[in-house]
Amino acid sequence: MIAMLRTVDLKKYFRVGKSKFLHAVDGVNLEITAGSTLGVVGESGCGKSTLGRLVMGLLPATSGEIFYDGVDILHCGKAELTERRRKMQIIFQDPFSSLNPRMSVFELISEPLVMNRACKNRK
Ligand SMILES: Nc1ncnc2c1ncn2[C@@H]1O[C@H](COP(=O)(O)OP(=O)(O)O)[C@@H](O)[C@H]1O
Ligand SMILES: [Mg+2]
Repeated sequence: MIAMLRTVDLKKYFRVGKSKFLHAVDGVNLEITAGSTLGVVGESGCGKSTLGRLVMGLLPATSGEIFYDGVDILHCGKAELTERRRKMQIIFQDPFSSLNPRMSVFELISEPLVMNRACKNRK
């Protein structure tokens, strides 16, 4: 069976100085099959959120590979990536920093629906 999500030697290094890098995610290999759940556990700052952002495509990876249903999403076209992202969702830990306080409730709820073409903008 093809894994629903697979990462191969996934890395994210943040530049924190002139030639200094913080190795937030350093060679993660994981595989999740459809219908199964994977929990990533570790102390604060060990790279859990960064890993989540990488697999969602919210952060560019330094190196490595990410496959959804066997499709290499780091090297596929924009249309393919947009299609994949419709099926993904990140739920942030802190609801207060997840929602933009400058936006109305209508805007907060409708924006992802309009962006994913699930409905038209009725504003
Ligand atoms: N945009 C960024 N720039 C620089 N360092 C970052 C950035 N995002 C996260 N980090 C650092 O990467 C490490 C991992 O952070 P994070 O993934 O948020 O950890 P966790 O979610 O496990 O608490 C931390 O040392 C954090 O300070
Ligand atoms: Mg976190």
